[in-house]
Amino acid sequence: MNELVEELKNPLVLIVDDELLQRLPMRESLEQAGFRVVEAENGMQAWDFVQNKRPDLVISDVVMPRMDGFTLCQTIRQRQELKHLPVVLATSLDDLASIERAYHAGATDFITKPINWGLIGHRVRYILRGARTAQALEESKLELVRVRLEIIRRLGWAAEYRDNETGSHIQRMSQYSALIGRTMGLSSHDQELLLNAAPMHDVGKIGIPDSILLKPGKLTVEEFSIMKTHTTLGGQLLDEEPSLLLRTAYLIALTHHERWDGSGYPFGLEREDIPLMGRICSLADVFDALTSKRPYKQPWSVEESVNEIQRCSGTAFDPNLVRVFLDILPEIVKIKDAHSDTDQPDQDTLSRHLSPR
Ligand SMILES: [Fe+2]
Ligand SMILES: [Fe+2]
Repeated sequence: MNELVEELKNPLVLIVDDELLQRLPMRESLEQAGFRVVEAENGMQAWDFVQNKRPDLVISDVVMPRMDGFTLCQTIRQRQELKHLPVVLATSLDDLASIERAYHAGATDFITKPINWGLIGHRVRYILRGARTAQALEESKLELVRVRLEIIRRLGWAAEYRDNETGSHIQRMSQYSALIGRTMGLSSHDQELLLNAAPMHDVGKIGIPDSILLKPGKLTVEEFSIMKTHTTLGGQLLDEEPSLLLRTAYLIALTHHERWDGSGYPFGLEREDIPLMGRICSLADVFDALTSKRPYKQPWSVEESVNEIQRCSGTAFDPNLVRVFLDILPEIVKIKDAHSDTDQPDQDTLSRHLSPR
């Protein structure tokens, strides 16, 4: 037993009970099992201990003066940094209602009274082990999501580096997209998806030869048909990925050059057949391209660019989106000003975003 406790690095258990006659045998049993123990007489005192002593596990009575066990448990669960702290509530054997309330309050587990003092150490050890496993699992899941996001972000930068003078374009256009999405009433989850997937819209440009991608003059018909394949190339790169984020990136890469009137590419989709995320990114992408300096053009003013967007409402762009875009233009301009190209030369952008941290 002690070996196993050692393995868990002498966990500190907080016992919360207003009755000394309950705390004493609990302390004795847990100390014998190798745990360190602190005691509190009520929920308020326990909450103080939790914040100051950071126990590894809390065992609390339910009925206590000042703050009861349910409230203590809810108070702990409200703190993000304490969400993994195991809280065990001690309830009466036949009190099913209390057990249900315990789970609703966010308790990790419950123990029934009268408590078997000989087994309490084992019980606490298993609960602790389960809680730590759950925490480790959640952390590795979060790490996976973080790494996935980072790879996507860097792929987006790699594609953008081949195309534009700076990497600010994808920052601006993804923020414009998320803002348009918010104003269109997308859920915060979908806004987040849009923000993180939009940087991949041109990832297929990785497969376009420099002679076409960086050509300063007008493309020939043949060159343009090769250029257009960056949509399907991007789609191929991102296809068959189960994550919602990459599915969204896939849709955006494929459809960000479709036009509302059906004259776009690669499929010639029309109106609402074009996925909303693709329509949003199309508008955000073009506005940023118009207002930016490119190898073949000087930047247009906001006014000129807005006129062009309005002129293309109903042909290139979804008219509803254009209306939304005009409504939020001051916020769009704020994003544009916050991510200007001027102070981010090409080479710096590459080394900053592609070099290991
Ligand atoms: Fe594109
Ligand atoms: Fe773009």
